[in-house]
Amino acid sequence: MRNVSPETITDTFIAYAAEADDARLREVMFSLARHMHAFVKEVRLTHAEWHAGLAALTAAGEITNEARNEFTLFSDIFGISALVDMLHSSPGATSSSNLGPFHRPGAPELPNGGDLRKGQEGEPLVVVGQVTDTVGKPVPHALLDLWQTAGNGLYAVQDPEQPEMNYHAQLRCDAEGKFCFTTVKPLPYTLPYDGPAGVMLRALKRDAWRPSHLHLIVQAPGHVPVVSEIFPTDDEHLDRDAVFGVRADLLMEYRQGTDPTTLPAILAERDSLGADFWRVDLHLRMAPLPGSA
Ligand SMILES: [Fe+2]
Repeated sequence: MRNVSPETITDTFIAYAAEADDARLREVMFSLARHMHAFVKEVRLTHAEWHAGLAALTAAGEITNEARNEFTLFSDIFGISALVDMLHSSPGATSSSNLGPFHRPGAPELPNGGDLRKGQEGEPLVVVGQVTDTVGKPVPHALLDLWQTAGNGLYAVQDPEQPEMNYHAQLRCDAEGKFCFTTVKPLPYTLPYDGPAGVMLRALKRDAWRPSHLHLIVQAPGHVPVVSEIFPTDDEHLDRDAVFGVRADLLMEYRQGTDPTTLPAILAERDSLGADFWRVDLHLRMAPLPGSA
């Protein structure tokens, strides 16, 4: 093309890349170019705005390291991560939600009924639940990968005072998919907002807060893994989650007033909880792997 114009530039991009072998790559990149060109034309992007965008990406590269990825943060606060999660949730299964940056592979095993709190600060919480398939049939021996903030609102990797892998655990459910453990109520926290993603949040007068949540991954043979998080119904940040992670089926009520003697007998801390503990009941649903039903 020797006479590129705003009207022809998208078709020109597509013509230049028409020989690309991978059909999916062509589909994704052509669509991306179409949307980006349309965006630039719609807002009549100025040189100053274009430079500001490039400067934000440059700053994101400079602040990114092993423990922090500013590009992931941009993906999260634009809602891209949440959209990818939602588009690939299995119908009837527990909704997908943010993996986030604090998952640690190889967390220590926690016996079913075990205790994550180990006497640490925070409000005691008993989690009781069951993993079933999408029609309510128990999924035996599902593996839960669990992680959350400690009672001070920090993940272990953010806090040198915490033991490594504090509040990270893998728990194997029983033959009926049932599980329970004691922990503390996770706390709300803010995303890191001292980088270019924070500049964007402030400019848009948006919250950097995430509501309190318990992260989990559920895995079982023959089923689609679920990556999700559970939110208490009374958290004040539910309607402004900075990363768009809240879904109706992930809201669970944290209640007080349970008689400890009614809790599962395998709960190790059952007799030492006192009266002021919280309880949440989780029903996690998994879809069968395609072709395995
Ligand atoms: Fe988190």
